[in-house]
Amino acid sequence: MRKEFLPFARPSVSEEAIADVADSIRSGWLTMGPKTILFEKNFAGYVGASYALAVNSATAGLHCALTALGIGAGDEVITTPMTFAATANAILFTGAKPVFADIDRETLDIVPENIERAVTKKTKAVMPVHFAGTPCDMDEIEAIADAHGLAVVEDAAHALGAEYKGRRIGADRGARRLSVFSFHPTKNITTGEGGMVCTQDEDLAEKIMMLRQNGMSRGAWNRYAAKGSANYDIFFPGLKYTMTDIQAAIGNSQLPELENFNRRRARIVAFYMRELADVPGIILPKPAPWAHKHSWHIFTPFVDIDLLGFSRDEFIARMKERNIGTALHYQALHLFSCYGGITGMGRGSLPEAEYVSDRIVSLPLFPAMIDEDAHDVVRAVKEVCRL
Ligand SMILES: Cc1ncc(COP(=O)(O)O)c(C=O)c1O
Repeated sequence: MRKEFLPFARPSVSEEAIADVADSIRSGWLTMGPKTILFEKNFAGYVGASYALAVNSATAGLHCALTALGIGAGDEVITTPMTFAATANAILFTGAKPVFADIDRETLDIVPENIERAVTKKTKAVMPVHFAGTPCDMDEIEAIADAHGLAVVEDAAHALGAEYKGRRIGADRGARRLSVFSFHPTKNITTGEGGMVCTQDEDLAEKIMMLRQNGMSRGAWNRYAAKGSANYDIFFPGLKYTMTDIQAAIGNSQLPELENFNRRRARIVAFYMRELADVPGIILPKPAPWAHKHSWHIFTPFVDIDLLGFSRDEFIARMKERNIGTALHYQALHLFSCYGGITGMGRGSLPEAEYVSDRIVSLPLFPAMIDEDAHDVVRAVKEVCRL
């Protein structure tokens, strides 16, 4: 058995990043400033966005995006139940109601026809999540959004480096279209905590710049830097969602490494797919039928609980006994007291999400994993699944 515990994720932060963090601290400019501006510029260039606005988390970015769209009390936003709580929380904190539309158990993404069925007079936006790094079928989703005059906020927390039909997630997709990335330590790149909102929409970009900084029409960097002006106005209240230069210093070192990180992720996934192909008790992910590039934020097979005769939680416990960390992404949101209560949904409401929720498990996947780590995971899975 493996001697040391293998976590399901661990960030790779270079010495260069650590030195740049120290440089920020020594410089006296700790909050948003030149390093954040540089990170935004390079990020926008990488994904192909007109605007990339750094914030202190994807949760904050989703909240800003919905608020900038004017979404609030009495409105509905259609999203997937197979996501992290942040997606629904961002909707709820605008005063709007999340409406869950069921997913496809193979792509794990929201199904466009189910979005169409969930549209009401109150619907203002759709929030698809590119689950694990499989881009949603955006052409279909945008056709529905166009037909009903809805905004689209892509929760792209998992999808940095992913492509849909040859274009990166985050690339410009027109007015009232936004995408939001996360730099939480488990994500494809990290800034400790952090997020980025990308859009082509100039009006929304300007609103988000103000929303992230208490509604102030000019950032601290502009007000206090040598050439900036101290004047600003406030047109509406904002929050404090800015990224700091300490975070951006990490991001500036991470971004050039992203393609290498994602290649390594893809190689580990290819190994898992090969080695676990014939293991009874494990159901492997299937590729989405539309043209795409996966970003492999997480690797999420299903535990075949019907065949094995024990639960996914038991699988997780048995992996832990073998010193292998796993994670649960996710329990379907409508099965949590909070969101079940708000939506009136419970078991039986969203059968596909529930099927997935009962079986899904995230195996270790991070760029610094060595081949031996991946072998240890496969060995442990085979032992746990031995019938
Ligand atoms: C799908 C999804 N949306 C939103 C978030 C929130 O990201 P953050 O932790 O940066 O706020 C996460 C983070 O895990 C996520 O996985």
